[in-house]
Amino acid sequence: MADSKTATLTFDNKTFELPMHSPSAGPDVIDITKLYGQAGVFTHDPGFTSTSACESTITYIDGDAGVLLHRGYPIDQLAGKSHYLEVCYLLLYGELPTAAQLEDFEARVTNHTMVHEQMHNFFRGFRRDAHPMATMVGVVGAMSAFYHDSTDISDPWQREVASIRLIAKLPTIAAMAYKYSIGQPFVYPRNDLDYASNFLRMCFAVPAEEYQPDPILSRAMDRIFTLHADHEQNASTSTVRLAGSSGANPFACIAAGIACLWGPAHGGANQACLEMLKEIGSVDRIPEFIARAKDKEDPFRLMGFGHRVYKNFDPRAKVMKQSADEVLDLLGVENNPLLQVAKELERIALEDAYFAEKKLFPNVDFYSGIILEAMGFPTSMFTPIFALSRTVGWISQWKEMIADPKGKIGRPRQLYTGATYRDYVDIENR
Ligand code: SDX
Repeated sequence: MADSKTATLTFDNKTFELPMHSPSAGPDVIDITKLYGQAGVFTHDPGFTSTSACESTITYIDGDAGVLLHRGYPIDQLAGKSHYLEVCYLLLYGELPTAAQLEDFEARVTNHTMVHEQMHNFFRGFRRDAHPMATMVGVVGAMSAFYHDSTDISDPWQREVASIRLIAKLPTIAAMAYKYSIGQPFVYPRNDLDYASNFLRMCFAVPAEEYQPDPILSRAMDRIFTLHADHEQNASTSTVRLAGSSGANPFACIAAGIACLWGPAHGGANQACLEMLKEIGSVDRIPEFIARAKDKEDPFRLMGFGHRVYKNFDPRAKVMKQSADEVLDLLGVENNPLLQVAKELERIALEDAYFAEKKLFPNVDFYSGIILEAMGFPTSMFTPIFALSRTVGWISQWKEMIADPKGKIGRPRQLYTGATYRDYVDIENR
């Protein structure tokens, strides 16, 4: 990054010069690393709405323009021309692979898709009605109990092996969580299937009959993986980075990311969005919910709308909307009532002055749930699918942070407004 300008901060008749850094794209940053040491003050930014937490070369978002680039390549081109494992290679290593590099990478992932057989026992400790995200947090964290040969974060080779293991095994674990929740036997991965077809088969195959994934559904599944792969410093990625900054092993860090993603304001929004569309039920009830979304006294929000960064259409939502039409048309449910409600809700919301003023557009979660439900997934599996897709983004960002020689443990400060010093009072004197 180019250091060309400085910012001047003046208060209490004192002036401080702060260095500024210019990025390859996006806003300049004011470097406050030494501010507390020089000026004895903190900056204050709950929710990090104006704070750059790290330097990265992986993903760039322009929220006003509705642009999302992975290593410079726009998401709509990657979704249309590439496929998930090639995008994984791009995120991990920074460049699109040659044919030989891609073949080698896909072979390494394919040959790590099975999990240690004893991990099956973990699932049996959960209730059958446990949310699959609870199972995934537990089982992914437990990977550190099985793969000791890829937990030494100081060894680049072990970091590489852990990355491949996580990308390869998350679909298997997510499918096992689903099978366990419906009382069906686990289905082992197959090496003759592509990544998305393997996941669909592990979810929907039963021992009683052969299962052949439909290539159009596999393509739609792969595209959903790609659209969720990485997204700059979102809440769960920031969680993974913060956990990783303490030196925690990669499996524990990804488990922390899964836990954070679960929230309905973040990755849990796809499940919450579909449940909201079902609660709306028909287009004539949409005005009632629009009114609730505007009502300051009502905590209700339109799930699948709004974004911290995008103040324009989420470019992923556009691709997801096309995919929704394709999948529902293939499945002969193009008249899906939920899709009708979704499309009418989108139309009304985008015409409404409140949503225009607040810059609330459909985000990646608005259409994904409709596709996943049409494919046969229960709503409880929507966020696990988001989690397995985002694992490559989490681990790419984690690797970038660990490899940074200037890296240090993340430790924010605070604006303290609690009680100042006071002595203990014995109970008889209270
Ligand atoms: C993801 O960060 C990422 O990159 C995340 C993600 C990724 O790929 O990792 O893109 C994935 O998490 C997408 C977002 C999924 N969440 C939802 O769809 C849940 C619904 N959306 C909202 O909860 C909300 O929009 C957030 C949490 C997504 C963003 O909220 P912000 O930017 O923190 O700002 P805010 O909540 O303070 O909202 C600003 C204003 C508020 O009104 P005022 O206080 O200014 O009067 O907009 C209003 C909000 O009330 N608002 C909404 C709304 N979202 C924001 N009003 C109604 N419905 C909504 N959905």
